[in-house]
Amino acid sequence: MSPSFLLLCLLTIPILPHPAFASDHQAGYLLNCGGSQNVTVGGLTYTSDQGFISVGNTTTIESENLIPILSTVRYFPDTKARKYCYSLPVTPNGKYLVRTIYYYGSFDEGKQPPVFDQIVEGTKWRIINTTDDFGKGLSSYFEVVVMAFGKSLSVCLARNNQTGSSSPFISALEVESLDASVYNPTDFTKYALVTVARHNFGEGEEIIGYPDDKFNRMWHPFMDQNPVVLSHSNVTSSNFWNFPPVKAFTSGLTTSRGKVLELQWPQVPLPDTNYYIALYFQDNRSPSFFSWRIFDVAINNQTFYTELNATASGVTVYAPQWPLSGLTKVTLTPKVGSPVGPVINAGEILQILPLGGRTKPRDVKAMGELARSFNNPPPDWSGDPCLPKENSWTGVQCSQEYICHVISV
Ligand SMILES: *[C@@H]1O[C@H](CO)[C@@H](O)[C@H](O)[C@H]1NC(C)=O
Ligand SMILES: *[C@@H]1O[C@H](CO)[C@@H](O)[C@H](O)[C@H]1NC(C)=O
Ligand SMILES: *[C@@H]1O[C@H](CO)[C@@H](O)[C@H](O)[C@H]1NC(C)=O
Ligand SMILES: *[C@@H]1O[C@H](CO)[C@@H](O)[C@H](O)[C@H]1NC(C)=O
Ligand SMILES: *[C@@H]1O[C@H](CO)[C@@H](O)[C@H](O)[C@H]1NC(C)=O
Ligand SMILES: *[C@@H]1O[C@H](CO)[C@@H](O)[C@H](O)[C@H]1NC(C)=O
Ligand SMILES: *[C@@H]1O[C@H](CO)[C@@H](O)[C@H](O)[C@H]1NC(C)=O
Repeated sequence: MSPSFLLLCLLTIPILPHPAFASDHQAGYLLNCGGSQNVTVGGLTYTSDQGFISVGNTTTIESENLIPILSTVRYFPDTKARKYCYSLPVTPNGKYLVRTIYYYGSFDEGKQPPVFDQIVEGTKWRIINTTDDFGKGLSSYFEVVVMAFGKSLSVCLARNNQTGSSSPFISALEVESLDASVYNPTDFTKYALVTVARHNFGEGEEIIGYPDDKFNRMWHPFMDQNPVVLSHSNVTSSNFWNFPPVKAFTSGLTTSRGKVLELQWPQVPLPDTNYYIALYFQDNRSPSFFSWRIFDVAINNQTFYTELNATASGVTVYAPQWPLSGLTKVTLTPKVGSPVGPVINAGEILQILPLGGRTKPRDVKAMGELARSFNNPPPDWSGDPCLPKENSWTGVQCSQEYICHVISV
């Protein structure tokens, strides 16, 4: 099955300004696509995307109360190009979180958002259809964690058989450099991780993002019928491989003594495939000799972890590759005689996306040099020259192995 057909739940961000914070942002890129000026949103400065892409047209969406990054788009009317690519200088073999943000806003005076493909480092990542979110007045965002193969990371849009004469578009692009330990021990030479769900349990409203999360990951609120507890101490984020924000531990879901805690999370059914799952727990009581509790963790009735000791300093359990399909049930069963019920504070699920292949670095370099030697290279001569194979550079022929190489130009 083609990975692009593993459709995932769409994560959405409301069109509301976040409060402003001082900027001490990590290394990376925050691009306001189609914009010519710097704009600040939630304490983060987004710069113009000029210089990172050489194709596309830009326009402005006239609408009140739109956060500035959504009020400009770059769109791609050229129906002949096989892809439209951003190319960002990065550290080879570095791990990056790539986030694309879309807000249609009828920029083309149409009613229906264009449908198109999204590609990262030569792998088709997913089909973009923002119709439902746009109908609700929301922007859409998508996130993937990838390793950069070479000195530049490519993020491309491409037409597919549903695009017709409409123009693929993008509102903002974020690329955050991740610490080496984040989402270990995934083999990023073979896989990427696509964000499916990231929730802060026991919180009703607030989305946690930057600056609480230094990578600007969004931790969405999640409440159900289970009782909420508030924490009496803070964890140390850097003690965890994935650097969950301290704030994600401040609330949790629990049950009364002796009862099993059952959570149906995430709320949407998932496609049948493998996922990276990380769950975060903290005993909410003030740190003392007694502030810990023992429980078993199961997912869809399968043991995930036995006799987990959740202490006041917090603990995480994860599975690098776990099959899920349809709705997911997380069950926490307290140890017999436990004086308090189990508790859970936060969780992340990312879909494991097999990479579509790699092109020989030597060929990528040679083709890049060739493209730069032209005054007017074809518009799609950016990003990976061979991959995905339907979106190779115009006029370039590649071998069809896992490691592709250029056969002829
Ligand atoms: C935009 O911001 C970047 C870095 O944040 C800065 O280097 C640049 O000078 C700014 N450009 C303008 C036009 O203010
Ligand atoms: C997009 O930009 C190109 C080059 O600047 C121009 O020729 C073309 O007319 C523009 N297309 C639209 C739809 O504005
Ligand atoms: C569109 O393309 C997808 C995959 O590329 C394919 O599965 C689907 O059948 C195509 N649909 C049509 C109507 O051609
Ligand atoms: C896009 O999504 C809308 C709403 O879910 C759906 O009606 C439409 O068929 C989708 N378009 C394509 C081309 O898949
Ligand atoms: C946890 O950290 C926050 C923010 O630094 C602080 O406001 C709060 O008082 C701390 N809570 C505890 C229990 O120390
Ligand atoms: C889990 O076990 C319960 C009770 O034994 C059963 O009703 C349910 O169908 C099982 N769920 C799954 C996903 O296997
Ligand atoms: C759980 O961890 C706490 C703190 O490290 C420790 O004092 C306690 O003995 C542990 N409980 C069990 C049953 O291992």
